[in-house]
Amino acid sequence: MLLLICSILLTICIIKWMYRDKTLYAFADQIPGPKAFPIIGSSHKILKKSEEDRFKIVQDMLAKYETNEMTRFWLGPVLFIFINEPKLIQQVLNSNDCLEKSFNYKFLRLDKGLLAAKRETWVDHRKFLEDSFRLDVIKSFISIFVDSSNQLVASLSQTKEQDETKIDIFKLVSRSSLTMVLATSFGINASEVHFDDEILKAVEELIKIISLRCHEPVLYFEPIYRMTRNYYREKKYRKRTTYYLDQVLKERRELISPNNNLTTASSVATMRTDITKDEEMGITVQEIPNISLNSHSFIDHMVMQSGAFNDEEIHDHIYTFVAAGYETVALQTFFTLLLLAIHTDMQERVHCEVVNVGDINCESLDKLNYLDRVIKESMRLLPSVPIVGRETREEVVIGDKKIPKGITLLIHLFNLHRRKDIWGDDAHEFNPDRFLPENVAQRHSHSFLPFSEGLRDCIGKVYAMYAIKTMLVTILRKFKVSTDLKFGELSYKADITLKICQNTKIKIEKR
Ligand code: HEM
Repeated sequence: MLLLICSILLTICIIKWMYRDKTLYAFADQIPGPKAFPIIGSSHKILKKSEEDRFKIVQDMLAKYETNEMTRFWLGPVLFIFINEPKLIQQVLNSNDCLEKSFNYKFLRLDKGLLAAKRETWVDHRKFLEDSFRLDVIKSFISIFVDSSNQLVASLSQTKEQDETKIDIFKLVSRSSLTMVLATSFGINASEVHFDDEILKAVEELIKIISLRCHEPVLYFEPIYRMTRNYYREKKYRKRTTYYLDQVLKERRELISPNNNLTTASSVATMRTDITKDEEMGITVQEIPNISLNSHSFIDHMVMQSGAFNDEEIHDHIYTFVAAGYETVALQTFFTLLLLAIHTDMQERVHCEVVNVGDINCESLDKLNYLDRVIKESMRLLPSVPIVGRETREEVVIGDKKIPKGITLLIHLFNLHRRKDIWGDDAHEFNPDRFLPENVAQRHSHSFLPFSEGLRDCIGKVYAMYAIKTMLVTILRKFKVSTDLKFGELSYKADITLKICQNTKIKIEKR
């Protein structure tokens, strides 16, 4: 009976959706794309396929239509428009009418956070939050990046003694990057951040569940999604991750609230908060020590802007920074290590550059030109965010097309970064010299968009580059990495972020 009611409800919703606007169909008919059937659209092409196959099918479809400026894809009754051309991508990313995120960002359940926020909230908050990512603020984070990278290298050295051959560097890099983002969010030292690997697992599972939801149009309807097992799994994993953050956030917020009488760094430093281990959650936060009121941490910046953010907004922004910052940085560092493990000649060149860095700070990291090109090339071939989405708020003219209001626009960065007409016949090969200034000057500015561009680009891009460079310098001056994998053998899936399907354990040796 329940099933029957659901089916009727679903059919009504689909029909209402389909006939909501005739201009939608008139517009869709102008855009080339794979054959679509009523109600199911082209979803038969990807439903019941493995995540790896789905990624490949979409990639092949885009390659087939990429010489067209746009490609349409009907996932069930939902229309997606891929914007293919750099000049059109530029128009979309700079348009005031394309500032809204596509509907599936709602699945993150961080509506007030910067990544998913509605335009009205976003405009004011982005202005305030830019302050938290100023260069002088990021400079003050470098010691945290260094401490956390040193912890990573210490773990690598220990792991090697136990396992001479291949280790899961990604897990270690993930721990390091989560430490960085937690320490810089809450104003604590890297050495005082403690969490269990259960947290990493919970985040990984959450990302998978949200990504699966994005591929199943039926699950876009919240009441139907709530009847699935994944909804309950999502709740479980969300509880696990929020438990940790909620505790630290509450303590920190109380401590630095403007109503709190504590006004000097030293008096704050005497307030030490103990949060004991919770076995079920797998978390230990031993202490939150030596907090100073002039700390540059993200939460301090928000609390200090009295009145600018309410509790819910601070919560969602902090969660967004952790969610948007930790896995992307970990993946990109890991991808770069993997590419250097495959291309050992280029690794030697990086080693020659990093071995003499001395103290790590913004100035010394800025001098590493070859490493910078290597990271950019890794972002080109393996962008940790492979697809970004927007929604038109009003009818908008892009190229020679009038795109109606409410259309979901997608930019497939992975595909854009491998187009032969932009990157040449060797587009699938690793060649950091593509990022020599004279080569960059020959390409359209919107051919390479690992951090997106325009008004809603990545607010953490400078932070990310320094964090990645610090980890890479610290690892590569001490270790040599290698692997039997060949780049051409890799296959991929998009769990919101890009994942490699093969087992990617890397061999490390001390230098
Ligand atoms: C290699 C690392 C990173 C990559 C590749 C990356 C990539 C991106 C991309 C492509 C976007 C645009 C998303 C969209 O339009 O849907 C974005 C937005 C964002 N990123 Fe990053 N990111 C990285 C690191 C970080 C870090 C470290 C932080 C914070 C600590 C961060 C915070 C954000 C936020 C808050 C947004 C939303 C900005 C807005 O809408 O105004 N990201 N990032």
